[in-house]
Amino acid sequence: MRHFLSLYDFTKEEILEIIELGIKIKKEAKVKNYIPYLQNQSLGMLFEKSSTRTRISFEVGIHQLGGQGLFLSSNDLQLGRGEPMKDSARVISRMVDMVMIRTYSQDILDEFAAYSKVPIINGLTDKYHPVQLLADYLTMIEYGKDENPVVAYVGDGNNMTHSWMMLAGKLGFELRVATPKGYEPWQEIIDDAKMLCEQSGGKIIYTHDPQEAVKNADVVTTDTWVSMGQEDEKEQRISDFKGYIVDAKLMAKAKNDAIFLHCLPAYRGYEVSEEILEKYANIVFDEAENRLHAQKGLMVWLDEKR
Ligand code: CP
Ligand code: NVA
Repeated sequence: MRHFLSLYDFTKEEILEIIELGIKIKKEAKVKNYIPYLQNQSLGMLFEKSSTRTRISFEVGIHQLGGQGLFLSSNDLQLGRGEPMKDSARVISRMVDMVMIRTYSQDILDEFAAYSKVPIINGLTDKYHPVQLLADYLTMIEYGKDENPVVAYVGDGNNMTHSWMMLAGKLGFELRVATPKGYEPWQEIIDDAKMLCEQSGGKIIYTHDPQEAVKNADVVTTDTWVSMGQEDEKEQRISDFKGYIVDAKLMAKAKNDAIFLHCLPAYRGYEVSEEILEKYANIVFDEAENRLHAQKGLMVWLDEKR
């Protein structure tokens, strides 16, 4: 049995296999051919943080695969009143066939997985957001940006940055990360990504200069400056991230045919300008839709591996 906790645990071949499966299932779904790959299976969806895309894509995704999704908010579960995670894991995983979790620390996810009888999917932690990267890479394939791409990430060194670093390290492409001083990715992720790049031929450049990162890039991406759980730091962050907005001036440094990606939700006027988000809206909302297709591929893949 496999869990999907981090891209670190997957080979390049496995990551591409999951995405290819997502592409196949997307083609089937586009002609309303909803094949019940996971007939009668239940997906528990445990949320300790807010969500629009993750909740809807998993709930609709499992339904289209012939199964059922259960939205489990920690506010309503006994978990929220102090029932230990390891007990919740043992109970929930006896009743459902797969569990997706969105939580704070990656350790919580690891603990749940250690006690679970069924595959666990990381639906975002403070450390990683790997399901988002499946959709992002699927979108890059659709827009022809999967042949030795140069990807520029501008903004906070957060769960999205870490996930891009894992993907670059696994697939072997060039990633340039521009963050303000003090907002760099975590050192342990930098170390892991370096080791992965040595194996794959990937390259990660760290800079404090957004223009240097974006120069001649094929893909430019960013994320909120204030992730869930950091609301108290909002004012400080907005001041520290001055100059890191992806606007038309910065985007002009990328290749002429570069694409812009954003995991969403987007905060216009902060990490991205209104102009750029709207200019690339077709791509960004394809990317959001691809959450559904990529995750259907993931759930079917995980089911096949047990
Ligand atoms: N990108 C993403 O995970 O969105 P939600 O927070 O709405 O799920
Ligand atoms: N970095 C953001 C991603 C939201 C999808 C957060 O963790 O809030």
